[in-house]
Amino acid sequence: MIIAIDGTSSSGKSSIARALGKKLNISVIGTGSIYRAIALKMLNFGIDENDDSRINTMLDSTIINIGFSAGKISVIVDGILQKPNDLNSPNVSKFTPKMACKEIVREFVRKIQKQEALNHKDIIIEGRDIGSVVFPNAEVKIFIDADQTIRAKRRLADYIAQGKNKTLEEVLSELEERDNEDRNRELSPLIMTSDSVIIDTTSYTIDECVEKIIKIINSKK
Ligand code: C5P
Repeated sequence: MIIAIDGTSSSGKSSIARALGKKLNISVIGTGSIYRAIALKMLNFGIDENDDSRINTMLDSTIINIGFSAGKISVIVDGILQKPNDLNSPNVSKFTPKMACKEIVREFVRKIQKQEALNHKDIIIEGRDIGSVVFPNAEVKIFIDADQTIRAKRRLADYIAQGKNKTLEEVLSELEERDNEDRNRELSPLIMTSDSVIIDTTSYTIDECVEKIIKIINSKK
């Protein structure tokens, strides 16, 4: 069974997907981490988001392996385990939507997602376009959202935990910019498909959301 979890930035979808995977003992692919890992490699190599030729050459020699164990997602790029703090840095968050709108990048990530789905009987895949483009026939489609200020407060708490200095206003405008880019791009924009179930996490805990999704999964069996 494919369980597609899409949603807005900092809505809690990654935490929910990981908690659900841990509870049901099902592997989780956090596709945002894959896009972030590619963005980080581009930044490290000084590759501009408009330089298709260098992006192509880079992707040709990039090997990404992903794993899920004990509720934690790992991303290994060219044999090197990526640090969550590097993948989630403000720089990488800002740059990722600028390269994630490109077909060569999306195609590269789609191949990884399809291969992982073939390797597992059941899988939870979390991102922006999973239920709409990558797996339109997914048996379960969830769309996660939350009030924008709550999302910004959650992201700010993550930054503070990483020792980064930001104001709520800065984080709010960062989120707004990223959501706009993800919703308004031509390829695979963030949308809620008509067959998705929406979960607004504004006033629910992660465990409550997990329970709701388990009920939806059981109703499909
Ligand atoms: O989910 P996360 O915030 O880690 O995603 C980072 C960025 O990766 C998003 O803002 C979006 O631009 C891109 N992304 C995407 N498609 C996905 C998952 C993430 O374009 N399926």
